[in-house]
Amino acid sequence: MDFAAFRVLEPLCWRAPSAHNTQPWRLGYQAGAIRVRWDPADALPAADPSARDLWLSLGAFVETCLVVAADAGLMIEFVPDHHTGDRRVGWLRPSRRPYVTPFDAAQVLTRRTHRGRFSAGPEDEVIAAVDAVAREAGGTVRVVPDADLLARLLRVADRQLYADPAVVGELRSWLRLTPVHPDYHADGLTDRCLGLSRGEAAGLRAALAAYPVLRRMGLPRLLAAAAGNPLALGGAVIVLVGPSGIDSAARVGFGRVLMRTWLALHAAGLAVHPLSQLIDAPAARAALGSLLSVTPERLLHVARVGRPAGPATRSARRAGGIGYAGAGMRRSAVEGPREVGQAGDQRAEIGEDAAGPLDDGGRDLRGDRRDRHHEDRFGHQGRR
Ligand SMILES: Cc1cc2nc3c(=O)[nH]c(=O)nc-3n(C[C@H](O)[C@H](O)[C@H](O)COP(=O)(O)O)c2cc1C
Repeated sequence: MDFAAFRVLEPLCWRAPSAHNTQPWRLGYQAGAIRVRWDPADALPAADPSARDLWLSLGAFVETCLVVAADAGLMIEFVPDHHTGDRRVGWLRPSRRPYVTPFDAAQVLTRRTHRGRFSAGPEDEVIAAVDAVAREAGGTVRVVPDADLLARLLRVADRQLYADPAVVGELRSWLRLTPVHPDYHADGLTDRCLGLSRGEAAGLRAALAAYPVLRRMGLPRLLAAAAGNPLALGGAVIVLVGPSGIDSAARVGFGRVLMRTWLALHAAGLAVHPLSQLIDAPAARAALGSLLSVTPERLLHVARVGRPAGPATRSARRAGGIGYAGAGMRRSAVEGPREVGQAGDQRAEIGEDAAGPLDDGGRDLRGDRRDRHHEDRFGHQGRR
């Protein structure tokens, strides 16, 4: 198979979500197959020591590749082949059948994490539908019943994570709090995606710069308090629960499930705001596990879900926008393919303005000051 057509689509595949927006995936084009690998430079050893979110992000990327290829009429399948030494999760290779998916490239392009206010939670039918998606893979999606307990757990989790200099340092390295940051349009978490005003972004930068000195004087507690309570912004909190004792390869598989649930929610007009600190912090994870009557290691992902009250800002990518003509243009992306090179090498990215008519910019959100005090971890989001 000629992978030129897929290569043109690669930047669109990079719209997949990843923890801290590190985009850890890499594609290696070989004769007859494309190797899917990760780059350890884009892992989060402090915030994600079990690599749970690394595997989920890679799975989300794989699923996105399959959806994008199917939309373009390219018959590609994923063959898991986990190899730690080679930093490989598997291969994309030609298939005799198209990948069957209800999702399309336009949904990949328009989906985005939403950390603002939700006007309503998910309907029961939608939860049942995403639960059915998870059950196909032996998992389940559960709604967390106790909002008060969750709010307490969030505070505990935030405090614990902000108290860890390694986690804070890692987060800082992925924050892009000013547009003059050299990677502002490439990766990481921007002030706009986090819904921060200019002043708030400057304040957070100052607090982070002072962290080594002020850590022992209560800065972690202050930052946790400043993070506020995202649960007050509406929606319901759902948890993706996996089977017991799954290995790294199975976690990649659940990243594919996660992506399908996010696309299903997006298709239903809903958005997702992950709250990973609830399972990163051991005490919160244990409490959440006991609330749901599952062993804590089965908790794979936690997120607030709801109907967005306004638009969210589009996040950056190292390979954004190139090679895709726009939404609702099935197969358009492969007409007249042009070589774009290895997308992972493209640091020069088109950025938010390249989103075209689909980009809603998130300006409305920034106008709502209440929406600025909700993010998890590190005053307005923390991890990711
Ligand atoms: C496994 C995983 C964990 C994440 N955890 C968080 C989180 O704890 N808090 C948060 O605000 N966003 C979280 N995110 C969302 C990422 O920050 C987001 O996907 C990334 O910045 C790209 O933005 P996009 O989803 O709008 O494309 C997570 C994403 C993934 C895939």
